Amino acid sequence: MNASIPAARRFLTGITTTGTPHLGNFVGSIRPSVAASLGAGAESYYFLADYHALIKCDTPERIQRSTLEIAASWLASGLDPDRVTFYRQSDIPEIPELTWLLTCVTGKGVLNRAHAYKASVDKNEAAGNDADADVTAGLFMYPVLMGADILMFKATHVPVGRDQIQHIEMARDMAQRFNHLYGEYLVPPEALIEESVATLPGLDGRKMSKSYDNTIPLFASKDQLKKLIAGIVTDSRLPGEAKDTEGSALFQIFQSFASADETANMRQAFADGISWKDAKASLFDRIDRDIAPMRERYEKLVSQPSHLEDILQAGAAKARSRATPLMRELREAVGLRTLGTATRQIPKKSEKTSAPSFKQYREADGLFYFKLLGADGSLLLQSEGFAAPREAAQLIARLQQDGRATLASSGNVVHAAAGVAEDEVNDALKSFVSSK
Ligand code: TRP
Repeated sequence: MNASIPAARRFLTGITTTGTPHLGNFVGSIRPSVAASLGAGAESYYFLADYHALIKCDTPERIQRSTLEIAASWLASGLDPDRVTFYRQSDIPEIPELTWLLTCVTGKGVLNRAHAYKASVDKNEAAGNDADADVTAGLFMYPVLMGADILMFKATHVPVGRDQIQHIEMARDMAQRFNHLYGEYLVPPEALIEESVATLPGLDGRKMSKSYDNTIPLFASKDQLKKLIAGIVTDSRLPGEAKDTEGSALFQIFQSFASADETANMRQAFADGISWKDAKASLFDRIDRDIAPMRERYEKLVSQPSHLEDILQAGAAKARSRATPLMRELREAVGLRTLGTATRQIPKKSEKTSAPSFKQYREADGLFYFKLLGADGSLLLQSEGFAAPREAAQLIARLQQDGRATLASSGNVVHAAAGVAEDEVNDALKSFVSSK
């Protein structure tokens, strides 16, 4: 139905525009994302999630400043807006429009179970307050807006931290539900969990995080960087005493910037009793070696906001060249149509839902799949992936003609859904014969 479903990997990452990027953001997100975007064949979308920022922040100046700083940070860190699509969420009016279509296919109960919302409710209940005290509908709808971000661009892979996996699963469900109702328009995404990316410790040894107030801003000035590094917690061992690398925030931060050789040398220096003062000086030098050229680019970018704005506008044009046509298709699909064309006959509710049906679709892995849905839309049968759509179609035809025998001989490529009895599948398949 939809020829433009991508077979290749398409990555998408959103960055909420609250706060100033710190070294932990750089090591955990910016640096690996920029590296991935430079890889051959990767198609990547990066956007400033400023609609999401409104959920957490009601200071307009702060939203604007953070948008500027985050955009400048990513570009200064090497993101090439000519190779990727880099845009600001609020420049894409199709995103809130898609949010509404998805809102209408998302169960309220599903959103009730979203972690962030549930955490607020639990906290309120623990404090004896009304469950929804101080909870905005924006927080409640967060996962739907995020689903629209992802589905708008048919992203196949979304690199996220563990805390965001649930949101990606919800986006998958929204895509599947929408497709089931209206046809195969949306691509269910997969979460890409970066296991290897270490979380950086902060000044106090806990995870570097704005909420612990233990961060080192990515583009702190040299002096500030030196001062902050001087404040990293160490133990009381004296110069000449061997030091533990295990559990040392200083060592871990060093390691996340250093080569294997440099790390080995530092490990030796710890064993040899390097003073904390010298270790901190080495850490400063190592970080600054990487950051200094970026800092220069960053300062230049921040001092020319209208140039940054131009870059974002060019990104928005690129993003909208994809979003606008899809949104047009989706509007048509759900029935938001012009009246110029003759109104088609309205299907009876029973016609629409009373018969089992086969659905064919293509997944992010590029293979062709089909499934059999019962009269109530529940999943009965699921196929493996086929290299060619014809193979899937031929098997469907055989299942429709001679369900029981075909099913018995195709156990390696089609499976009954969990908890579905074989008889139920056979009964559904019979309806295809009798309906001919
Ligand atoms: N929720 C993400 C975060 O807090 C930000 C985000 C918004 C996002 N929309 C997204 C991430 C879409 C990935 C894809 O980090």
